[in-house]
Amino acid sequence: MAIKWTPDLTVGLEHIDAQHKILFEKIDNLFEAGRSGKSKEVIGETLEFLDAYTKQHFRDEELYMANIKYPHLDQQKAAHKSFIEQIAKLKQEYNQSGGNILLIINANQTLVKWLTQHISVMDKQIGIYAKNLKK
Ligand SMILES: [Fe+2]
Repeated sequence: MAIKWTPDLTVGLEHIDAQHKILFEKIDNLFEAGRSGKSKEVIGETLEFLDAYTKQHFRDEELYMANIKYPHLDQQKAAHKSFIEQIAKLKQEYNQSGGNILLIINANQTLVKWLTQHISVMDKQIGIYAKNLKK
């Protein structure tokens, strides 16, 4: 089953929602690469793409929060940091294992769960805050 962004994850800010969709796509690409038994090189590359995009997205999101003077930026930064560390750990374990696909397949659940939770609980608050600013 493909991993997909679902409309209930909307935070109400177009640029953030668009990036969240892509983030889900990147996780799905990784999952599919693992599931279909792609080579270590291809999976390694997919993992790099996910890592790079995640960092990019968090940077953009943090910049936006700073711009609107979002009061919980520090909490967000800490959460983002821990997710980036999870990906770094996965990359390291994957490389050290010599390309164990199971590591990738199992990690997907954790990544999707974290992201879903983070968006639902923390990112939606950014949308609510931004909306109130416009009133
Ligand atoms: Fe966030």
